[in-house]
Amino acid sequence: MSHLTKTKAGREARPTQKLFTPVQVGPFTLTHRVVMAPLTRSRSEQPGDIPGDLMLEYYTQRASEGGLIISEGTSISIAGRGWFGAPGMYSDEQVAGWKRITSAIHAKGSHMFSQLWHEGRSSHVSMTNGAAPVAPSIDPQYWLDSTVNTSTPNGWQKPSPHRMLDISEIPGIVEDYRKAAERARDAGFDGVELHAANGYLPDQFLQDGSNKRMDGYGLNRKPNSFPNGGCRGAGIGVGWQSRGGANWTWWNMEPHVGQQLGRSVRLRCPAIKPVRTRISPHH
Ligand SMILES: Cc1cc2nc3c(=O)[nH]c(=O)nc-3n(C[C@H](O)[C@H](O)[C@H](O)COP(=O)(O)O)c2cc1C
Repeated sequence: MSHLTKTKAGREARPTQKLFTPVQVGPFTLTHRVVMAPLTRSRSEQPGDIPGDLMLEYYTQRASEGGLIISEGTSISIAGRGWFGAPGMYSDEQVAGWKRITSAIHAKGSHMFSQLWHEGRSSHVSMTNGAAPVAPSIDPQYWLDSTVNTSTPNGWQKPSPHRMLDISEIPGIVEDYRKAAERARDAGFDGVELHAANGYLPDQFLQDGSNKRMDGYGLNRKPNSFPNGGCRGAGIGVGWQSRGGANWTWWNMEPHVGQQLGRSVRLRCPAIKPVRTRISPHH
């Protein structure tokens, strides 16, 4: 079997053996480049969004010496919940559950980052303790669209009508990211990744269909200050200057989020190097 792969342009790319050579990610030297992407599995224990035995088995099976696992999207707060069964990082019980997982991962010589998730308007009141989901601005087309659904304890449902975040509330959300990063550190994670893609709250701030704000968190400001603030809140606040990354999309096909900002607005985390970037229309 050839060890050479082809790029889309048909050019010869690097040998696939490179997959099994070391790479530096922040302070960590991985011995290979097969990094596990964040994958929502909806397997946390209910009630409480607590990582239990099933999640322990799942992640332990996938850990490898010198590797890196990015956790599934993990809610930073009850207001940020939006996917039934997703684990959380906002309670002591959740931290205790994650600790068992990170210990098992470390025992196999692997590293693990926690992906911090706030779903913003992509949610339902049954997930947020009755509170209206929040968004940068109000777009009734989003909840009126018959093709848009969200995961709830009662199956797929239309998202609840959302409300616009008041400017005074935004620092509190950034603080929720910081607290979640702190809990992730206490739970034994090696770093965090901000879920800033695929139509969730940071992405809602980054896209022109979902962010019509005219204040300091609008798109007239560059770089857009909510996701940047979120990065800082999540990483720098717990002393993890080089242990944070972001998953974001330049171009977004989630309904009503917006087509794109091209490269005019970038998620800038000067002290935090992105672990990965990608363009993906899904999840
Ligand atoms: C079942 C499933 C769950 C996923 N959950 C997440 C998630 O929690 N967070 C995230 O950023 N991406 C999530 N993704 C996207 C994957 O990480 C993504 O498909 C993978 O990185 C492959 O990259 P690509 O989409 O660029 O090809 C999910 C994808 C699938 C199929």
